[in-house]
Amino acid sequence: MTEDVRVYVEEAPGQRREIVGPTDMGLSLMELLKANEYDIQATCGGMALCGTCHIEVLAGPALDEPSDDELAMLESLPVMSQGSRLSCQIRLTERLDGLVLRLMPQTT
Ligand code: FES
Repeated sequence: MTEDVRVYVEEAPGQRREIVGPTDMGLSLMELLKANEYDIQATCGGMALCGTCHIEVLAGPALDEPSDDELAMLESLPVMSQGSRLSCQIRLTERLDGLVLRLMPQTT
């Protein structure tokens, strides 16, 4: 049976949209967001090189620590917050269930 995971995108303060994705296809959170029509360029194709898939985690389960490559990319971005992550570096697994995030502004 396919396990689905639910994440919530805060589109405006107090306004969250639930999106649901499969955990058995090896997708990243970036790919799920793109599949749900969010405007993410992902020009590097998920290699932690472009920064256009930048999100901010607002609440939910603890995630694995970012890799050195992810951290280096995040630190090069003009805006970074404590919850900043590259959504291409986050695998869609059941551990993400209940994650709340928002898209960070694109500055490139
Ligand atoms: S898609 Fe380029 S850094 Fe994530």
